Amino acid sequence: MAEKFQHILVEARAGYAVVRLNRPKVLNALNGALIGELVTALEALDADSTCRCAVITGNERAFAAGADIGEMAEAEAIPFLLNDRFAQWDRFRNIHMPLIAAVSGFALGGGCELAMNCDLIIASETAQFGQPEINLGIMPGAGGTQRLTHAVGKVRAMEMILTGAPITAQEALRAGLINRVVPVELYLREAEALAARIAAQAPVAVRLAKEAVLKALDASIADGVDFERKNFFLLFAGADQKEGMRAFLDKRQPHFEGR
Ligand code: CAA
Repeated sequence: MAEKFQHILVEARAGYAVVRLNRPKVLNALNGALIGELVTALEALDADSTCRCAVITGNERAFAAGADIGEMAEAEAIPFLLNDRFAQWDRFRNIHMPLIAAVSGFALGGGCELAMNCDLIIASETAQFGQPEINLGIMPGAGGTQRLTHAVGKVRAMEMILTGAPITAQEALRAGLINRVVPVELYLREAEALAARIAAQAPVAVRLAKEAVLKALDASIADGVDFERKNFFLLFAGADQKEGMRAFLDKRQPHFEGR
């Protein structure tokens, strides 16, 4: 990627990319500039047909310890609202390729919300997930009340958001917040293996399937099933469906071309 970023590092791999949050001195606190760079990088990767999945990660100690408190401490309500910096977060919704969070250490506040903005979450044994905003006299502001409640259910979300207490990776796994927990030396490798596996699938099917799963979060079952069915039928207009099914019948590996 030609663009130079100050707060993130982007590395291209075969079929996917790894985007690393890079403000280690402040535990990857998410200032406005970092979120801006992150969504800009993801949009560029999403537009690149050779990149079919992205892994978002931090470092072993912290995925991200939340929005940058220093940047928000003196904020005034009306200017904050008018110059809605959190609107940048809405751009995650328009990323078509799957996003995988590879989390070690702190995923707190906006850090937990960032992980939940991803489609899959792989955690190291040291990961902790929490919404500690209540300890600062505020509440989650980047989707936490909604996405956490969808992921873990009302009573668990209430407890986490009203007490601010984090949960461990194992608890997050049991609660259905994350996909798996692996030893700390393996979490990135595991996330990359998952990215490579998704990158090898038929790209249009991956895109439409992701869309349909996300639809389940904000549609009635009937509307969601209608949406799913249209996407399903649409895939039969593409070459990859023919290739995938013929390869199965011929007992060979499919060769997908994204069309
Ligand atoms: N914003 C700005 N700076 C932060 C930060 C944050 N969210 N989290 C950590 N830092 C900074 C610390 O100020 C410290 O900087 P200095 O070395 O310059 O003092 C550095 O990162 C290391 O942190 P600690 O010394 O505190 O490390 P620790 O191991 O003792 O504690 C921690 C780790 C428990 C994560 C603690 O740093 C902490 O509680 N951080 C704040 C977590 C938080 O409240 N997050 C929610 C933010 S609000 C939000 O996210 C709103 C939203 O919904 C979008």
